[in-house]
Amino acid sequence: MTMIQRPRGTRDFVPDDMERRRSYENILRKEAVKFGFREVATPIFEESELFVLKSGPNILNEIYAFKDKGDRDIALRPELTAPVMRMVVNELSNEPKPLKLFYFGQCFRYERPQSGRYREFFQFGAELVGTANPESDAEVIALASSMIKALGLKDYKLRIGHIGILRQRIVSAGVPEGNIPEVLQKLDKKLYDEAEALLLTHKVSKQTCRDIFELTETVGGTDVLEKVNDSSAAYLKEVVGLLEAMGVSAEIDMGVVRGLDYYTGMVFEAEAPALGAEKQICGGGSYSLTELFGGEKVFSTGFAIGFDRILLAMEKEGMEFKRTPIDVYVIPVSESTRTQSFAIVSKLREENISADIDLMGRKMAKAMKHASTVGARYAVIVGEKELAEDSVTIRDMVSGDQKTVKIKDIAKTIH
Ligand code: HAM
Repeated sequence: MTMIQRPRGTRDFVPDDMERRRSYENILRKEAVKFGFREVATPIFEESELFVLKSGPNILNEIYAFKDKGDRDIALRPELTAPVMRMVVNELSNEPKPLKLFYFGQCFRYERPQSGRYREFFQFGAELVGTANPESDAEVIALASSMIKALGLKDYKLRIGHIGILRQRIVSAGVPEGNIPEVLQKLDKKLYDEAEALLLTHKVSKQTCRDIFELTETVGGTDVLEKVNDSSAAYLKEVVGLLEAMGVSAEIDMGVVRGLDYYTGMVFEAEAPALGAEKQICGGGSYSLTELFGGEKVFSTGFAIGFDRILLAMEKEGMEFKRTPIDVYVIPVSESTRTQSFAIVSKLREENISADIDLMGRKMAKAMKHASTVGARYAVIVGEKELAEDSVTIRDMVSGDQKTVKIKDIAKTIH
């Protein structure tokens, strides 16, 4: 019989993985709540059109789309910003602004799998809906930064740019609106030769091409903004000033372009250099999408952390995660104490003590070995002689000390 493998670019998560993932996911959730954001969830699949409208060429090439039995065009979500904005239009349009929403869930992109790049991956993201001003941008970047810090990642960099400035330059150079995404796509990947070839087809002069590339190479402290001849430079300076007040340090990088097409203003990314090629652990910026989904135009700003990638980066930094040990492992010494042992394990669980019991009929020595395998802190040994006196033996699995305790006192002793 052939063994069935999981689809390419997907992963299984065994208990050790899941415990680690849940624990980090909860750290992120706590951080978002601390900033006043509230969790939402949307379907894993949506009508394809939702993503076609404004995702840009990168995403569209990578989308998992299919027809369902009712001949509808369906796509697995490649990201959650468009679904969340659709939900805002459908469900939350009358709520007071700003809305502060966060989400955690899987996304699907048909990409060439490699380390840190999967076809099914998880994003933890946040969207602040209702304004686009330096305050809301700073709030969202500060949340991203706090989340990364809370996870304990040390080596990462935050870079902030402004896609509006770059777009404006390209439009002024004479490139039609509809052709901007493909130019930005090349600039995002720093493929200057290919970008130039595209710009030349729109009769942009070589000098203007060079000016555009120079803008995307503008990197440094807020002083580099002096060179950027655009009113939005002052806006970015304000964002960075607010971030400084919140203790967040970030670099200006006018080359932050982003792979998605809906951004209009501030854009930002966080990268962890240890990851090599797929080092982007977080990306976001300000945008407006609601008007495309039948709502009023509402400016928003948000980001998503690549959950799998940030965990990889933490691993690369040597952060270890230890399995949570179980408190107690109960071992019936003989068949005659088995029923009582189940009564004991059940009582312990009622007392909020995590407790497991031998289910394999193992003999004492083997059962004890299994207790250490599952990382039990204590073994409760239920022997005939002790049971006759309403007692059991408790063994400290670390020190090896043992003592006899009345059954009614087990929970107290463990606590
Ligand atoms: P994005 O940059 O396409 O932005 O994705 C966000 C993050 O998801 C990336 O920085 C990366 O860490 C992770 N990621 C993307 N593709 C993969 C993959 N194939 N495998 C593993 N991780 C991946 C967005 O999706 C926007 N919706 C973010 C946003 C929210 N902008 C505004 N609000």
